[in-house]
Amino acid sequence: MTSVSVQDRKATRRHYLMCRPAHFDVSYAINPWMDPAKPVDNELALMQWELLYALYRSLGHRVDLVNPEPGLPDMVFSANGATVVDGRVLGAKFLNAERSAEAPAHRAWFRANGFTEIYEPRYVNEGEGDFAVTDSWILAGRGFRCTPEGHREAQEFFGRPVISLELVDPRFYHLDTALCVLDGDEVMYYPEAFTLGSREVLARLFPDALLVGRQDADVLGLNAVSDGLNVILPEAAQKLAGQLRARGFRTHGTDLSELLKGGGSVKCCTQELRF
Ligand code: ARG
Repeated sequence: MTSVSVQDRKATRRHYLMCRPAHFDVSYAINPWMDPAKPVDNELALMQWELLYALYRSLGHRVDLVNPEPGLPDMVFSANGATVVDGRVLGAKFLNAERSAEAPAHRAWFRANGFTEIYEPRYVNEGEGDFAVTDSWILAGRGFRCTPEGHREAQEFFGRPVISLELVDPRFYHLDTALCVLDGDEVMYYPEAFTLGSREVLARLFPDALLVGRQDADVLGLNAVSDGLNVILPEAAQKLAGQLRARGFRTHGTDLSELLKGGGSVKCCTQELRF
């Protein structure tokens, strides 16, 4: 049970950065969801993405767009391009060569849009794929993409405590496939995606967390975005949507079936810019 009462839920206006999937494709495989032999419906991918974009705007959020670049089929997953906290931009450094050119494209966007503190990292970090920001901490995933060195680098740059969490299941290769910040220091997560030690850390920090079951995790239900009241999540995560409503959230199910073929969903398409 949660100590937060239903009436307390309040949306705050967010600022997001997205990237239209103009060049989206699955032409290589760098996570278990990706199968280059399976066809992708580009038009459908675009339509599904446009609905998500429109939904954020209808909820009153500001959404900026970074230009999609040819040859970067995963660029739609803009959450990976950087991490922005207190207006400071920690750039990304991708593990896989296929995505490495996305990092400078994002840094160029930030330079062109008035951000002055932009840091080019030495160690691998894939932006908000592995960093989740709560009021008190930055939660950081490792095991598949981001490294402990990347976590240390983030802590030094932001001056906020970074809590290092180890992922164990290759299907949940980024933290944002296994954990989502709902509000303040309130999170939801799929415990089995983490080592025993990391599960204990999460239980200690978040005794009221919403624990998510395998079925909902398997449809990337945790790859969700919350503004404190509205939670946008994959529509297949039915049980999870009910759990969220019981906690006083409004749920908005979205279908991003084409982007799921790349191993991403709502949160992967959404980088939050925090000031
Ligand atoms: N195909 C991309 C990759 O494997 C998907 C990235 C999804 N993004 C995310 N924030 N989890 O890197």
